[in-house]
Amino acid sequence: MRSKIYPTVRQIQQDMLTRRPRRNRKSAVIRELVQETHITPHDIIYPLFIMEGNNKQTEIKSMPQVYRYTIDRALEEIAECMELGIQTFAPFPVVPDALKDKYATESYQENSLYLRTIRAIKAQFGEVCIMSDVAMDPYSSAGHDGVVENGKIINDESLEILARMAIAQAEAGADIVAPSDMMDGRVGFIRKELDEAGFQDVSIMAYTAKYASAFYGPFRDALDSAPRFGDKKTYQMNPANIREALLEAQLDFEEGADFMMVKPALPYLDVIRSLRDNFTTPIVAYNVSGEYAMVKAAAERGWIDGEKAMYESLLSIKRAGADIILTYFGKEFAQLYHRQ
Ligand code: PBG
Repeated sequence: MRSKIYPTVRQIQQDMLTRRPRRNRKSAVIRELVQETHITPHDIIYPLFIMEGNNKQTEIKSMPQVYRYTIDRALEEIAECMELGIQTFAPFPVVPDALKDKYATESYQENSLYLRTIRAIKAQFGEVCIMSDVAMDPYSSAGHDGVVENGKIINDESLEILARMAIAQAEAGADIVAPSDMMDGRVGFIRKELDEAGFQDVSIMAYTAKYASAFYGPFRDALDSAPRFGDKKTYQMNPANIREALLEAQLDFEEGADFMMVKPALPYLDVIRSLRDNFTTPIVAYNVSGEYAMVKAAAERGWIDGEKAMYESLLSIKRAGADIILTYFGKEFAQLYHRQ
């Protein structure tokens, strides 16, 4: 029982309830007034899967409303997204098996689907920002992000190929090259090679903390890029580790990364926060294919409200410290943003 004669400060506060946080939630206007985190279409990077052909698009089974587009269709999609305020796009190529080989040589052929895509986008929309993917796996017959020799992924030999790919993409017009392979030393090596080739102005977005995750399944379906043997654990990170993410970030920062990415996003919000607190570069979060598929699958079953779950996910990723979000929800989010 509390004493009426000698109340503690806490008891007085309880009696009077001077702090009622619910006052700041009492109306929609006040809730908006005190909202701490906002997302706009300018914060979004929108991925696009590109395939050969004309005037075609095919839906990816495990990613409802996400399509592989032929270049002409992709240009139409980009125009629609730009109307909605999205300005940065990340194309990924679907490469036929016949063009894949041990050294991913297709990745830097002048007339490859990917480089034609970059040139076509740049020719039609000069103001668009293109973030291009520097990785061997879509072009590798082994489905790995590095050169495979006797079942092992060889680091330094892979760097040469990544740098060639980055230069070819820069020549085609990429604004940001994004190495997603997790080889050691690639940011520094690519920076040096880009500079020597005269591309000082091309930025590097490092996939800094990319985990060996189960959430990439639908993406590998989309590109048919799953590893043909083994897994990616000798280069992608162990989901159990966060100090290691800080080490990767320190190296990428020192090697000259302009942006640093954490991937996946939702299961790694602590990693996003930690990089945000410890480094000065913009932090990017990749809300990956499996995160997208989970929301869509549950919404299709009527188990959750997909649109609300999407918004809450993106908001949480920003609140955790991401400045920029790469997400398949990009267009749907931008549509919602303009309806609100
Ligand atoms: C590979 C790459 C992957 C993704 C983007 N780049 C898959 C992988 O590492 O196997 C996955 C993205 C997603 O799941 O949305 N360089």
